[in-house]
Amino acid sequence: MYTQLEQRGMPEPPVNVATLGKMKAEGERIACLTCYDASFAVLLDAAGMDLVLVGDSLGMVIQGHDTTVPVTVSDIIYHTRNVARGLRRAFLVADMPFMSYTNPNQALENAVRMMQEGGAMMIKLEGGEGQLQIVEHLARHDIPVCAHIGLKPQSVHKIGGFRVQGREPDKAREMTESAKRLQDAGADVVLLECVPNELGKGITETLDVPVIGIGAGPDVDGQILVLYDILNITQGRTPKFVRNFMAGHDAPLEAVHAFVKAVKTREYPAPEHCFS
Ligand code: KIV
Repeated sequence: MYTQLEQRGMPEPPVNVATLGKMKAEGERIACLTCYDASFAVLLDAAGMDLVLVGDSLGMVIQGHDTTVPVTVSDIIYHTRNVARGLRRAFLVADMPFMSYTNPNQALENAVRMMQEGGAMMIKLEGGEGQLQIVEHLARHDIPVCAHIGLKPQSVHKIGGFRVQGREPDKAREMTESAKRLQDAGADVVLLECVPNELGKGITETLDVPVIGIGAGPDVDGQILVLYDILNITQGRTPKFVRNFMAGHDAPLEAVHAFVKAVKTREYPAPEHCFS
């Protein structure tokens, strides 16, 4: 009945927000991947993944759209529910889709649905200064929040493409300040996408909460990639930070194991996956 209490005594207890904070404090890298269904969730969990994200990247890799913009709250809930059934240890985060958090009340309503109907343990939203009030409102209602900064794929039409962010000193300073303000507003994790190594390191050192990077260099607290990219399922050009972990492996489970190991040993990302 008291599952949370029983789980504390397990040899591999489920990951929670406190575990992620402890990993940052102890310098243990956090291994994260996206996932969209129960079968892969079982596999990721078996490979020792710390955090699993039901990303709105599902709009591209599952639904075949060009961007994440068409994804809906119902899509995310459906996939989160399926992933939740496959996980035992990994921490489950779900993405708030485009336009599902335009004001604090709408954000709270959708976040509650994603937790109650989907089983998410934390929600992720793309945000900077404009989302401070929303993060504060969610945090005040005890909704765990991951704030996604740097390259924000939901803004692709506004920024004119997927490109590295924060290269100019004033933009880097602004991003560092807004990361700090998001943390102060109540964000429990910050996800940093597509920034130069030095900025990834600076933000990670500035914040007390864990920083998960994707194309943010080696000096962040954890690494996340899109599952289909590391399994070499994605056709065509992939971003510079992607590594094909199927190379040299016969099965997806081996590839996912190799990803976890490469993150933990800091072998991934290598210089060729990074931006300067
Ligand atoms: O939706 C997604 O897959 C993401 C990753 C890029 C981190 O947000």
